[in-house]
Amino acid sequence: MSKQVLAVVGSPRRNGNTHILVSKIAEGARAAGAAVDELFLGELTIRECDGCHACWKGKECSKNDDMREIYAKIIQSDAIIFGTPVYWYGPTALMKAFIDRLVYFNCPENRRKIKGLSAATAIPFEEEDLDTARGVVEFFQRSLAYLEIELLGQIIVPGVGEKGAIRHKPERLQEAHNLGRTLV
Ligand SMILES: Cc1cc2nc3c(=O)[nH]c(=O)nc-3n(C[C@H](O)[C@H](O)[C@H](O)COP(=O)(O)O)c2cc1C
Repeated sequence: MSKQVLAVVGSPRRNGNTHILVSKIAEGARAAGAAVDELFLGELTIRECDGCHACWKGKECSKNDDMREIYAKIIQSDAIIFGTPVYWYGPTALMKAFIDRLVYFNCPENRRKIKGLSAATAIPFEEEDLDTARGVVEFFQRSLAYLEIELLGQIIVPGVGEKGAIRHKPERLQEAHNLGRTLV
């Protein structure tokens, strides 16, 4: 059976730099034989985590929103691509809410459901200094490590502000494609 990849776009801009970069990683994964499902967080309802821990007590998440279906998609996936631009030296609010809701998998009963899951990230931003992405890079490294999700690679692209500017960096898009191939 082909490997299943979930591609998560955490920018509200369709056809923006994050979407293009995530699509390139997805293209590489498809070229390696995977089936890819794309999620646009900006078009879904994903509320903030309340920290009620109902999910740790064997219950459904208390928030009845799109995450309920997405938990099932995550469980069925072999790999996840997380894409977010840098917004004020952090991830977008869309991506932060999404990652917060992964607390669902932070109990033994649910953790085993994502055993073996791997990941890649795509992080474009406007400034030229790589250090601009430090907070986002660390956010993913530490959060995914905590969840025992193996982070296989991060594509960090400075100097892209305008929508679609990343198309002028074909070598970075090729790198994203190559990462997708290694993801599955
Ligand atoms: C609310 C907001 C905050 C931003 N903060 C930063 C920032 O701190 N550093 C930076 O380099 N770019 C920042 N940017 C620029 C975006 O990272 C950049 O335009 C990126 O390419 C957007 O990706 P997208 O096309 O996928 O939406 C910000 C943009 C917005 C809208």
